[in-house]
Amino acid sequence: MKVGFIQMSIELLDIKKNVDNAIKLMEKNEASLIVLPELFNTGYNFKNKKEVLDVSENIPDGYTTKTLKDFTEDTNKTIVFGLSEKTEKGLYNSLAVVSKGEYIGKYRKIHLFFDEKNYFLPGDLGFKIFEVEGIKIGTIICFDWFFPESTRTLSLMGADILCHPANLVMPYCPEAMKTICLQNRVYSITSNRIGEERGLKFIGQSQIVGPDGKIIFRASEAKQESYEVEVDPLIARDKNLNPKNNIFNDRKPEFYKII
Ligand code: ACM
Repeated sequence: MKVGFIQMSIELLDIKKNVDNAIKLMEKNEASLIVLPELFNTGYNFKNKKEVLDVSENIPDGYTTKTLKDFTEDTNKTIVFGLSEKTEKGLYNSLAVVSKGEYIGKYRKIHLFFDEKNYFLPGDLGFKIFEVEGIKIGTIICFDWFFPESTRTLSLMGADILCHPANLVMPYCPEAMKTICLQNRVYSITSNRIGEERGLKFIGQSQIVGPDGKIIFRASEAKQESYEVEVDPLIARDKNLNPKNNIFNDRKPEFYKII
């Protein structure tokens, strides 16, 4: 299976321009699973709630989800992408999954970072696995990575690949994902953005990591990049570290009660 990501620059509040840019980059990418950044259609560093509200969309009926769904029609593509979701209850920092002309589902970011708490409600849908072509995709959004419970939960739910739309501003995530993948024996695809927004700098370095904890590819810090690579997601189902240690069977939940 070919998987990939788009690392892109984003124009704050210009949905049409960002969606067009993502589609142009994806047209050259042959991966059947592609991850785009968090809030890829709007940008991230909002000034106030009204600004976020004005660029928030319904999922799946809003412009961005519909446009990307249509883009996947008559292709073998699945896209995981981040956007601000408008609901009757309020706004969520969400992601949606579309595949081969169909809307598959959404996830709402559970662990909100810094000013996101001023605009978004914490995710209320729990962690999600989406199955595409027999492959189990687990989803987190950016800062969710900081909580090992997120990635462990998804891995215990059977995720083969963690899809991770991000707008990373701290330097820690790219290295940390190596340990997360090793400890859970799963793949991860982190798609980050580049550039600066009202003084906030994003670190790029989107990457794909294998279940052995090794980086398959890490992108640059500041260039737009469209990357694809052939992987075997089924390797992630083998949780044996050696003939005597299975990392899931060897867990001792009776001693983890505090979490
Ligand atoms: C982040 O969660 N966007 C840092």
